[in-house]
Amino acid sequence: MHNITFTDAQIAWQAKAKEIAITHLLPNAARHDKEQSFNEAAFTAAAESGMLGIWIPKEYGGGDDGIAALALCVEEFSKADPAFGVAFAVNALGSLPIVLGGTHEQKAKYLPQVASGKAACAFALSEKFAGSDAGGLSVRAIDQGDGTWKIHGEKKWTTNGSRATIITVFAVSDPESRSRRLSGFIVENTDPGFSIGKVEDKMGIRSVPVNETIFDGIQLGEDRLLGGKLGMGFKHAMMTLDFARPGVAAQAVGTAAGALELATTYATKRRQFQKPISSFQMVQKMLADMAMKTEAARWLVHACAAAADQGDMKAVNKLAAMAKCYATDVAVEVATDAVQIFGGYGFMEDYPVAKFYRDAKILQIYEGTNEVQRMVVARNMVKSARDFDYLNSVIPQEEQKTFGVDYDILNA
Ligand code: CAA
Repeated sequence: MHNITFTDAQIAWQAKAKEIAITHLLPNAARHDKEQSFNEAAFTAAAESGMLGIWIPKEYGGGDDGIAALALCVEEFSKADPAFGVAFAVNALGSLPIVLGGTHEQKAKYLPQVASGKAACAFALSEKFAGSDAGGLSVRAIDQGDGTWKIHGEKKWTTNGSRATIITVFAVSDPESRSRRLSGFIVENTDPGFSIGKVEDKMGIRSVPVNETIFDGIQLGEDRLLGGKLGMGFKHAMMTLDFARPGVAAQAVGTAAGALELATTYATKRRQFQKPISSFQMVQKMLADMAMKTEAARWLVHACAAAADQGDMKAVNKLAAMAKCYATDVAVEVATDAVQIFGGYGFMEDYPVAKFYRDAKILQIYEGTNEVQRMVVARNMVKSARDFDYLNSVIPQEEQKTFGVDYDILNA
């Protein structure tokens, strides 16, 4: 169990995010979605407020307000525009490898730029042939024998790719090794050999750029090797995802909350059979279920953020997978029901509810598919069951053997 409390600073950040959402996101979300253009005004407002440093330690120019503050802000943004919510969350995802695994010099060089909003970040892990199998990458980091590496290859679906000035990239530095195959590197968008490939044309989150990113023999020295250590890439990427998944889960909570708010308001205004449809029990059941699921998802996200902020690494892996999976499933269910409540109008782009429905789907796919999250949750459960034999503490082993439990096999 973790103590879920919010500091005054965290609550103030939430209020600031709400203000930015009302001023910059709500009135412009539909236009940016249509034009596939990024809401730079909202990003500038967030940067000017200091919000881009909330997950960054104070000594590197941040506010040290934790993953809880990140989740609160991402939820507020996503209520108004889930695409901006993910752009903000990915700025954290792209810089967390440096926060969690960087050397002091790397932190001192890059994190103040991120905190002030001078730099925007991306996280380049996925490739055309390596999505869920994050260990199966093919982008290479080739040792030049003089303390430098050349990065060769292409990454796929780099969220924020074309806006990012700092890209944390994971590449194969030792193809012969199983556990030390990958290393993380910090690439700057001005590095010779870096370029942006295809701009993806997406079903949802259309106002945030998602790109192919190309690394054509980018030469990097040891100062760009994440943490100054080879072979740590997989662990750095996994640790980062553990801390970043509450962000995407908060995006899901915001998406659900935004769709729910629209559906509730619409249900009170739309009249059929001479009554507002909110007076019909079947609509009420839908609204109540949507609200309960959204609230449950919100508290799971906060439980996970609390574990991350209290440094309980063991708990974070499972809670992050649970929060990401549950909240994103909820977002899709709630956005679907919200469209249903809007009826024919919900299917049209005239009302913003269709956009919530389109924006929701990717949540179940990126930052680890929900199939991967369920696998992570189950692996944690199986491991705990092995570590502590609950059954054995209730019924003696000898007795269990008569029920068909083979301890020799279990302990093999
Ligand atoms: N923290 C630290 N170390 C970890 C770890 C964690 N959370 N998870 C695994 N490891 C370590 C293991 O201990 C193991 O170490 P040893 O070899 O020393 O024993 C090693 O890493 C390998 O672990 P696994 O055997 O568990 O690895 P696996 O190959 O079975 O894969 C996986 C595990 C969970 C499926 C992983 O590949 C995964 O998370 N895949 C999904 C990738 C993903 O989330 N991609 C999203 C990209 S980002 C994105 O989408 C952003 C966006 O656009 C918005």
